[in-house]
Amino acid sequence: MSEQELVTTVRTMMHAGRGILAMDESTPTCNRRFANLGIAQTVEARRAWRELILTTPGLGEFISGAILYDETIRQSKNDGTSFIKLLTEAGIIPGIKVDTGAKDLAGHPGEKITEGLDGLRERLSEYRQMGARFAKWRAVITIGGGIPSRGCLEANAHALARYAALCQEAGLAPIVEPEVLMDGGHTLEQCALATEAALHTVFSQLYRQRVLLEGMILKPNMVLSGKDCPTQAGVEEVADATVSCLLRAVPGAVPGVAFLSGGQSAQLASARLNAMNVRWRSKAPWALTFSYSRAIQQPAMDTWKGKEINGVAAQKALYHRAKCNSMARRGEYRDEMENP
Ligand code: 13P
Repeated sequence: MSEQELVTTVRTMMHAGRGILAMDESTPTCNRRFANLGIAQTVEARRAWRELILTTPGLGEFISGAILYDETIRQSKNDGTSFIKLLTEAGIIPGIKVDTGAKDLAGHPGEKITEGLDGLRERLSEYRQMGARFAKWRAVITIGGGIPSRGCLEANAHALARYAALCQEAGLAPIVEPEVLMDGGHTLEQCALATEAALHTVFSQLYRQRVLLEGMILKPNMVLSGKDCPTQAGVEEVADATVSCLLRAVPGAVPGVAFLSGGQSAQLASARLNAMNVRWRSKAPWALTFSYSRAIQQPAMDTWKGKEINGVAAQKALYHRAKCNSMARRGEYRDEMENP
C-alpha cells in the first residue's frame, strides 16, 4: 500500500459537497435505538434497516464514505448482493469501525478508555480484503468535576495513534475520533478547553507514532454548551468556537475534518456545520464536513418504525438529511430546506 493510495482515499472522501455516513452502531446501540421505537431487536431487523439505508436512491450524491460495523460488513441485501457491492456501485467507499468499545479506565472514576488494539493488525487485514478502505476508532472524553484528567487524555490519544498507524500499514485510511461528550452542565468555554487539550494530545501522539497526517481524517465533536447548561450558545457562536479551537490544535496537513453529531438535533447539526463553512471556509486549511450517524439516520428511523410499508418514506427522510448536510458542507444550507 502506497502513501499515495491513502491520500487518494482521503481526498475522494473529502471531495466537495459530500460527507460520511456513520452506520456503524454496535449491536447493543442499534438495539437500544430500535427498542425506543418498538422495533424488533433481531439480526434480521438490523439487516433490513441497513439495507433500507444502502438502497436509498441517490445517496451517493451526498455521501462519499459509509462506516460499517463488523456485523454489517458481512451482510447482504435480500437478493444476495453484498452490502460492500451495493456501496461500491453507489460510488460510496466502504469503511469499518474497529474499536471494541469504551470501558471504564482503571483508577479514573467517571472516565473511559477505548479498547481493541489486541489482534487489530489481523482484523484490519481481513477488512481490507473484504473491501474496506478506511476505518474508525472512537475515544470518549467526559467533562465533569476535575475531568478530563491527563491520564485519560493520554491513554486515549496513545490508543488512537497506535490504531491509526496500524490502519495506514494495512492500507486503510484512519478516521481518528476523540469525542468530547456533550453530556453535562458545562459551558461552551469548558468544552473548548477540553476539546483543545484532547486534540493537542492526540496530534502529539499521532506524530510520535509516525502517522501520515495527509492520509487520515479527524472526526471531532463540535464545541458546544453541555446539554444541561442553562446558557446554550447560538449557531454562529458554536461555529466560531469550534473552528477557532481546531485552528489552534489541528495541523493544516490534515485534509479533512468530519464532525460527529453527538446527540444534537438533526437540524442543528446541519445549521452549525453550515455556519462553519459560511464563516470560515476561506481561512480553514481542512475540509469541514460531516460524519453523522444520528443526525442523518434518526428522522428516517422514526419514520420507518420497522415496517416495510414505511420504507419509501424513510428513504426520502434519509435522502433529505444527507442532502441538507451536503448543502451545509458547501455553506448553502437554508432553514427553508426543512419545510419544502
Ligand atoms: P453520532 O453522529 O450519532 O454522534 O455518531 C457518530 C459516530 O460515528 C460516533 O462514533
